[in-house]
Amino acid sequence: MRSWAEKPLQMGSVTPSGRVLSRAIANFVDPQSHGPVIEIGPGTGPVTQALIERGIAEERLVLVEYSVEFCDLLRRRFPKARIIQGDAYALAKTLEGVLPTKAAAIVCGLPLLTKPEPVRIDLLAQAFMLTQPNAPFVQFTYGLISPIPLRKAFFTWKASPRIWLNVPPARVWAYRQLLKN
Ligand SMILES: C[S@@+](CC[C@H](N)C(=O)[O-])C[C@H]1O[C@@H](n2cnc3c(N)ncnc32)[C@H](O)[C@@H]1O
Repeated sequence: MRSWAEKPLQMGSVTPSGRVLSRAIANFVDPQSHGPVIEIGPGTGPVTQALIERGIAEERLVLVEYSVEFCDLLRRRFPKARIIQGDAYALAKTLEGVLPTKAAAIVCGLPLLTKPEPVRIDLLAQAFMLTQPNAPFVQFTYGLISPIPLRKAFFTWKASPRIWLNVPPARVWAYRQLLKN
């Protein structure tokens, strides 16, 4: 609540994602996959917890969070995860030298709609450079449409049904690189 009052655009939402939404986000990540799973904007870690409950080993998690306070909290809560304090919108630079192999998934908790379209598209392009070919970039939104514009898409997408049990109701989108034959 205090973080939101101080930095509303960085936080986006006043409350952490609920369990149903967190589980719906985590469900897009294949527990049989290999390699790091990146979470950007984990906040206090509700989605991180859901990823672990889904079967993603804590050691595979790379959490990129801007807030120093949240990073301290995440280090206490998830001592085996790699916590990187930095700017997720400069993802390639922030993760320079961090990933041992390409990532199996990126889960994004950033309030993307507070940023202009080109910044959102650039983030997705950076994400695809860091991930395996079929890896999902998973994003939730309270908005009615895709937070990444779908016109001229260089990706495929899937969306969950609206999750009415979350307050406010949300939808989860997963984007994947369009693979050339
Ligand atoms: C809407 S909260 C989501 C928190 C959590 N994932 C959840 O679902 O409850 C957004 C989070 O993104 C973080 N954040 C905002 N801008 C960021 C940036 N440029 N780089 C890294 N983290 C950022 C905020 O500090 C906050 O923890």
